[in-house]
Amino acid sequence: MSIDWEGMKSAARDAREHAYAPYSSFRVGAAVLANGRVFAGCNVENASFPVGICAERNAIAAAVAAGCRDLAAVVVMGPRPVAPCGMCRQALAEFNPRAAVLIAGADEGADLETTLDALLPQPFLPPSLKK
Ligand code: THU
Repeated sequence: MSIDWEGMKSAARDAREHAYAPYSSFRVGAAVLANGRVFAGCNVENASFPVGICAERNAIAAAVAAGCRDLAAVVVMGPRPVAPCGMCRQALAEFNPRAAVLIAGADEGADLETTLDALLPQPFLPPSLKK
């Protein structure tokens, strides 16, 4: 299956415009492709810092809420290419430990295409999800 990375990047870029990041000023957008549909998210910070949530987890949550759990691909878009944090890698692996991943920058930097299993080898998965 060929992935429409440009379409996904556009969705991540649009979501990034809505990032709520008054504490770090580090705005991130993400898009996931699940069941053939694209879902986007942005980081949403909080005055109680640990309550803040990353763009990737908001994007996968939007997909799951729409009934789309068959994750195929992820785009992460920071100001420059930034790899997803460990918690987001684990959250995404739940839905496909081998998803394709594109790491991109809105303002600078070359895209990096990789896979979730390269970013998170040997993820913790319940036996029912081990493939
Ligand atoms: N952040 C993301 O949304 N995704 C990442 O992959 C890395 C970090 C957010 C969390 C926080 O709101 C800000 O970026 C600075 O760490």
